[in-house]
Amino acid sequence: MEPMQAALAPGGEVAARIAVLGWWMFGGAAVIFVLVMALTALAIRRRPAWLADRRTIVIGGIAFPVAALSALLVYGLRTAAALDGESAEVPLRIEVIGEQYWWRVHYLDELGVRIAALANEIHIPTGRTVELALRTEDVIHSFWVPNLAGKLDMIPGRTNHLRLSAVRPGVYRGQCAEYCGAQHALMAFYVVAVEPERFGAWLAAQRRPATVPADPLLLRGRDLVLAGECVDCHTIRGTPAAGTRGPDLTHVGSRLSIGAGSFPNNAGTLAGWIASSQHLKPGNPMPSFDEYTGRDLRALAAYLESLK
Ligand code: CUA
Repeated sequence: MEPMQAALAPGGEVAARIAVLGWWMFGGAAVIFVLVMALTALAIRRRPAWLADRRTIVIGGIAFPVAALSALLVYGLRTAAALDGESAEVPLRIEVIGEQYWWRVHYLDELGVRIAALANEIHIPTGRTVELALRTEDVIHSFWVPNLAGKLDMIPGRTNHLRLSAVRPGVYRGQCAEYCGAQHALMAFYVVAVEPERFGAWLAAQRRPATVPADPLLLRGRDLVLAGECVDCHTIRGTPAAGTRGPDLTHVGSRLSIGAGSFPNNAGTLAGWIASSQHLKPGNPMPSFDEYTGRDLRALAAYLESLK
């Protein structure tokens, strides 16, 4: 499925309401613009007295804008209230933490305990309300997936809640919508909506630890990961790697992208990322590890790619 990012192609109820609000504002503004231009032309050509009339100011400059903007305010507030209204069902709860320059994602159980960790990717079941708890580890970021919901800032010291749902399966692209530093532009993510049964299977797979590979190349890659500095920042459940600074890599091979939507995820880009992270996305917290030989890089990347 080709990922899409479009505010005017709503994939869920919340986004649909926002799109309708957007169209009303666009349509209303267009009608008012045409009306004002027509009246101005008429006044200049045929009714110059209107231009000096007090009533023009009172009606056109005060009464009409107050009425139009008040109506828009009421409609906007009602839309906003409907967006965070309580739903009867228990929502799926996911915690998303913005960091320079990626998204840390945790799935929570009913008690709020973290049951799976991933990065730059959120999978949701179609037809179910999802409640995202949005936080930040550093500066202000803004979580925006236009096909599914409005934008919501991630503010230091606060947890903001965003509800969304997807009507049909699809891959929706989101991105950081608040300037957060040098690599703000490369801070994207994907929301993958699948049927509930497929979602259940996916989550069960994400909860499992990584297995020890049998293939000699993959085993060599695993040894290199565990012997090097990778473990200082990354966790691979099922191995001694338990760093928490960077993304959890337990199932990194199952993700669509690396570098927060910067590159498609495959052995080639993984090897490039390890060797030249600072060339590919300067200023991101991961150093370039250019000391590995080509053979080592191939083994490392093959192992990471195998972590499905
Ligand atoms: Cu994070 Cu912009």
